[in-house]
Amino acid sequence: MTIAAVIGLGTMGPGIAATLARGGMKIRVYDTSAEALEKAPGMVAMAFGVLDRLGMPDKGSADDISYHTDLAEAVDGVGLVVETVPEKLEIKAAVFAELDKIVSADCVLASNTSGIPITKLQEGNSNPGRVIGMHWSNPPMIIPMIEVIAGGQTDQGTVDWMCDTIKGLSLLPVVVKKDVAGFVENRILYAIMRESVDLVEQGVIDAEGLDTCVQWGIGYKLAIIGPMALLDMAGLDIYQAVGSYLNAELCNRPDVSPYITDRTKAGNLGQKTGSGIFSYTPDDIQRLRGERAAAFVAVRKALEGKS
Ligand SMILES: NC(=O)c1ccc[n+]([C@@H]2O[C@H](COP(=O)([O-])OP(=O)(O)OC[C@H]3O[C@@H](n4cnc5c(N)ncnc54)[C@H](O)[C@@H]3O)[C@@H](O)[C@H]2O)c1
Repeated sequence: MTIAAVIGLGTMGPGIAATLARGGMKIRVYDTSAEALEKAPGMVAMAFGVLDRLGMPDKGSADDISYHTDLAEAVDGVGLVVETVPEKLEIKAAVFAELDKIVSADCVLASNTSGIPITKLQEGNSNPGRVIGMHWSNPPMIIPMIEVIAGGQTDQGTVDWMCDTIKGLSLLPVVVKKDVAGFVENRILYAIMRESVDLVEQGVIDAEGLDTCVQWGIGYKLAIIGPMALLDMAGLDIYQAVGSYLNAELCNRPDVSPYITDRTKAGNLGQKTGSGIFSYTPDDIQRLRGERAAAFVAVRKALEGKS
């Protein structure tokens, strides 16, 4: 049985810890913040509730997770560390440097970074071949796809081990073969976001209309058939014809548009401040959270043929 440590218990850590424990691992969790450690058991319990509703194989419980205030104690004898501390190179580099000194030689060091090159996190590591990206999607207990990213010096054996481990959790590993910025999922997402914001900013459509178009047009379709298979379904001749004039029309601005920067400067950050592109009362946020979690579970079960 793998013993794993999850380092960082913010938005992602508790859900990752619960998913690994449910999949049969013994988990140690660690955070430098006493508040995060205090909140984590409640978040873990919530994640287990979701994993239950998803009908995930039941190989472990919240009792398989222990909470630690000492990093060396948390990683003693573990075979895998999942680092999920804030997305700042200096914080991650310091954590990796510390881990390098205290974990066993064959322990796999995985980062949940959304975009810091894995190659950077390998710098200075005594065994860079065991350092790898394990990029979970939020919420980690619901989204089954995990990107596995090989840095410049990651051993193929580490990639293979990580893929087998993820499959063993009944989840879906996807190998990203080159350590490109944003990996794959966020590159695609940010291409969609850039075009969406541009269309709304130009007045082609309003924000509600844009969301309806994407959710019930391409979003619904893409949940069943991925873009590469969609090209085949539509016909490559059609893409050739449309792409030859449309690609040149698509937004390609390299900066973030004023539609977003005006709002971020004004402190209108979305749900967390009550207003962003749309407005939210605290009741709205509570309701949306519940509705979205229920919908995620129902859709995933339907796609897996479980309902
Ligand atoms: N939030 C998302 O939607 C999302 C999705 C995928 C990947 N990620 C990635 O996951 C990582 C974590 O993101 P998050 O949103 O959970 O961050 P967060 O800020 O919510 O949580 C980070 C946690 O790490 C703790 N921490 C800080 N320094 C630490 C240290 N030295 N040792 C141990 N713990 C420390 C903090 O106290 C905090 O509890 C980032 O790399 C992020 O890019 C986030």
